Amino acid sequence: MKKINSMTKVYGVIGHPVKHSISPAIHNFAFEYADINAVYLCFDVPPERLGEAVRGFKAIGLAGFNVTIPHKQDIMNYLDEVDESARLIGAVNTVVNDNGRLRGYNTDSSGFINAIKKRGLRVDEAIVLGSGGASRAICTALALNGVGRINILNRTYDNAASLANHIRSLAADCCVCADALDNIKNYRGQLLVNTTSVGMWPRVDECPVDIIPTGVHTVYDIVYNPHETKLIRMAKQKGCGVIYGIEMLVGQAIESLKIWTGVDVPENIITSFLEKEGIPLKMSNSIHNVTEE
Ligand code: ATR
Repeated sequence: MKKINSMTKVYGVIGHPVKHSISPAIHNFAFEYADINAVYLCFDVPPERLGEAVRGFKAIGLAGFNVTIPHKQDIMNYLDEVDESARLIGAVNTVVNDNGRLRGYNTDSSGFINAIKKRGLRVDEAIVLGSGGASRAICTALALNGVGRINILNRTYDNAASLANHIRSLAADCCVCADALDNIKNYRGQLLVNTTSVGMWPRVDECPVDIIPTGVHTVYDIVYNPHETKLIRMAKQKGCGVIYGIEMLVGQAIESLKIWTGVDVPENIITSFLEKEGIPLKMSNSIHNVTEE
């Protein structure tokens, strides 16, 4: 049992809703593993109370926090500083309290790109499904890491077009194309990334696309609940390599922890913990119970 005392630092995640976040499990485990005297809690804060909550965090000296849906963009209005890459992405998911000054970072993009770098994958052209907040971080990471062409396909064309403009403004040498999701058959790329919520529990039989274009060698689905989405199953059947969503989730958590504490907890240690605990499998069961009640 963790000892909580007057020196215990408090971290957390702010979002709405946050009830089923896996982050407390990851960070509390990591604190214990690395012998850090800290706890990590969930703060469910509706958008209209975001400013009030952040002022409260500052007043009580919260050591740092993660930011999740729907606050990743709005939080920037309440911070003292925003790190360069988070500013380019236009979203913050990690905040550190540095002696009363709140500084924002984005670890989603490094969490995402580390999985590609680690495998030594060569990606000249990528297809990215979706153009929301997660896609913004992912497309920025791809463009700033030398991917020559990014095809952003989205249900709503205008949202894809607007993200494509943003990415072009960051990386002039990256060719960015926007189109509707249904036109996937016209696109090529070695990497296909799903950033949409399609296939997420409980709608596990859905898939954002019905084909995987020829030439795709790796499919990366950032949906982590269920662990194996329909898209991932389709990719495996086609003989593609796959990257599971849990890897990005764990990756961004490791990067946040490094920013807060300087400690680097190995990915395999966190992954084995989650597997042992049956997360996120257990999480879908708990959502199931809540829905049935
Ligand atoms: P996040 O921050 O997780 O990226 P978001 O900003 O709400 O979440 O973005 C969700 C993405 O999933 C969007 O690209 C959305 O498409 P639209 O721009 O058309 O809304 C996409 N998405 C959500 N539900 C979808 C569905 N049923 N079919 C296809 N795309 C969907």
